[in-house]
Amino acid sequence: MKEAVDPQFWSGKKVFLTGHTGFKGGWLTVWLHSMGAKVSGYALFPNTKPNLYEEARVSGLCDHSFIGDIRDLLTLRQAMNQVAPDIVIHMAAQPLVRYSYENPVETYETNVMGTVHLLEAVRTCPSVRAVVIVTTDKCYENKEWVWGYRENEPMGGHDPYSNSKGCAELITAAYRQSFFSEVNYSSHRVAMASARAGNVIGGGDWSTDRLIPDAIAAFEKKVPLLIRNPLAIRPWQHVLEPLSGYLVLAQSLYEQGVAFNGAWNFGPQDGDARTVQEVITLFIAQWNQRMGEVASWQQDHQFQPHEAHLLKLDCSKAGQYLHWKAKWSLEAAVDAIVQWHQAFQRKEDLQVLMHEQIKMYCAS
Ligand SMILES: NC(=O)c1ccc[n+]([C@@H]2O[C@H](COP(=O)([O-])OP(=O)(O)OC[C@H]3O[C@@H](n4cnc5c(N)ncnc54)[C@H](O)[C@@H]3O)[C@@H](O)[C@H]2O)c1
Repeated sequence: MKEAVDPQFWSGKKVFLTGHTGFKGGWLTVWLHSMGAKVSGYALFPNTKPNLYEEARVSGLCDHSFIGDIRDLLTLRQAMNQVAPDIVIHMAAQPLVRYSYENPVETYETNVMGTVHLLEAVRTCPSVRAVVIVTTDKCYENKEWVWGYRENEPMGGHDPYSNSKGCAELITAAYRQSFFSEVNYSSHRVAMASARAGNVIGGGDWSTDRLIPDAIAAFEKKVPLLIRNPLAIRPWQHVLEPLSGYLVLAQSLYEQGVAFNGAWNFGPQDGDARTVQEVITLFIAQWNQRMGEVASWQQDHQFQPHEAHLLKLDCSKAGQYLHWKAKWSLEAAVDAIVQWHQAFQRKEDLQVLMHEQIKMYCAS
């Protein structure tokens, strides 16, 4: 199969990436750098220990690694203008549902005003040709139905996180219409899209309240993992899947302009929208086999705040126009994660392993 991500295109491109100190941002920095892109990141310093940014020496791969707040428009604008990027990818966010129930103001400030600031910075940075705003599958009004959501369905979001990402989508559409319109493309030359991906798993995620990081934390303490909603269905995918979608989308925006404006879903193959219970059973089997352990899980019966039970994405649009589709099965994704954490425990060079996993992904 033809490799979808085009290293020749990325070689020498200046990319301004927000959220490079996070899980997805760390992987994307490694991938972009491996193709010869000049990456400049903008984000807060990681708030977990360990974290991917330090473990994989991500700052060493950046032309600039700005430690700054997306809520600070002036500093963000100065950083972007200093870099004068060709392409902007916006991933900095408060990305956790349960944290958003406890900290709604911070979540809205970061995800809503952060997106406004990012787009304001783009308005005053004449070098930018393509912008990808990363949101989430949770931006849709969830109807708890069995069908996958399509890009033209209404925004919603029950909890502050999901809703803030629905808002980020609306902001992106409003800025596009108001300041980067198709009719004026020849004067501003900025093409802009948003990307909605499902639940991402992969090595190097230490966030709380996410299935795989919670599982690893429990197994390291030798206690069973407590699961809140074992029957909830999510579109699980390895982190490299949506990242490849963002890269293909950014290239299309850069090369072909407004034809690729709009929203894009990047989800797993249909069969990989699976229950939490199925994913964790698979993960535990591979973990126990590789690590020689007897890890297990139990249901957590304590009261839990609302989370969607059924969430699937329809990715026909990305398949049809970007020729993008998910490559790795859930089994392959889980295998890569267990391999990654084994390497972490053995204190191996994680940047090298990430390069190997990216190469393997591109070749599959
Ligand atoms: N991980 C997933 O399952 C998933 C699924 C769908 C969408 N997403 C989206 O992908 C993006 C990246 O998520 P992630 O999983 O890597 O999360 P993460 O928590 O690992 O990384 C978040 C990044 O945002 C930065 N950040 C947070 N607040 C900031 C602020 N005020 N100013 C500057 N930077 C700030 C952090 O420093 C970090 O670099 C987010 O937009 C998230 O909503 C993630």
